[in-house]
Amino acid sequence: MQLVHTIAEMRVVRRELPTDKSIGFVPTMGYLHEGHLSLVKASNDNCDITIVSIYVNPSQFGPNEDLSSYPRDLERDLHLLSQYRVDYVFFPTNEQIYPPNYKTWVEVEGLSGILCGASRPGHFRGVATIVLKLVNIVKPDHIFMGSKDFQQVKVLQTMLRDLNLESRIVACPIVREADGLAMSSRNSYLDPAQRQRALCLSQAIKLVQQATASGERDATKLQQIAEEHCSQYGQVDYIQIVDSENLQPLKQVDSSSRIIMAVFIDRVRLIDNAALGE
Ligand code: PAJ
Repeated sequence: MQLVHTIAEMRVVRRELPTDKSIGFVPTMGYLHEGHLSLVKASNDNCDITIVSIYVNPSQFGPNEDLSSYPRDLERDLHLLSQYRVDYVFFPTNEQIYPPNYKTWVEVEGLSGILCGASRPGHFRGVATIVLKLVNIVKPDHIFMGSKDFQQVKVLQTMLRDLNLESRIVACPIVREADGLAMSSRNSYLDPAQRQRALCLSQAIKLVQQATASGERDATKLQQIAEEHCSQYGQVDYIQIVDSENLQPLKQVDSSSRIIMAVFIDRVRLIDNAALGE
């Protein structure tokens, strides 16, 4: 496992990789957990070479969000990664990624303004920009990403398509704790009582899946079931039943429907989603 500190060094490494080897890339913001590691494993299983990046990208955080408190532990991350076949770990600095004269931003219209994008203006602009920059430096064949951030995957797939990039996203399943909570670096903010309340997201998904399985097709009624459950434990940011392809709201659910949500447990904003047929 080689640590790569600069863009220039990463470019040299990339240029010297054999052309007949497939390159898998796992972009992360660190404070790794089993969700991130499942992406590393998927890259190991599908690609010859695995490159992981660790970079807490300031441009995807809003002014009142948790950039300064975002959990970081590089030593622990490197230890976790050393248990896999990770060829390179790229961790650039803010000065390299956003030098003082930085001017260029990537906007994926429409998809970036709904759901998480409606409550986090500018978030997906920051995500699209950093991922495009990283992809231009790393030039991977496959980018392994988690379906936990379902909207992020859709935004980035659209960007790759529209900008004619050849890298392809492999969307991997959500990894959950034994009790159902979707793993997230932000779960470390939760105290034991909040951690218990945080179960409302996965519980609401289960309730809605059960209602769907029993024949309920009305999206408003299904959303109400989830909202009533979650609002007992936290503050609902949004809960929507959407088309899995274009993330547009639905009136009637069908086999391509997905429930997608963000709920605040006090100040901690958690997200989750699932296909209704799961
Ligand atoms: P981060 O939140 O660190 O997540 C890195 C990757 O891990 C993302 O693809 C995310 O979907 C995936 N992931 C997180 N929790 C997961 C879980 N429980 N199961 C499966 N996969 C999970 O997402 C970002 O960083 C950033 O926005 C980034 C893409 C790195 C751009 O800065």
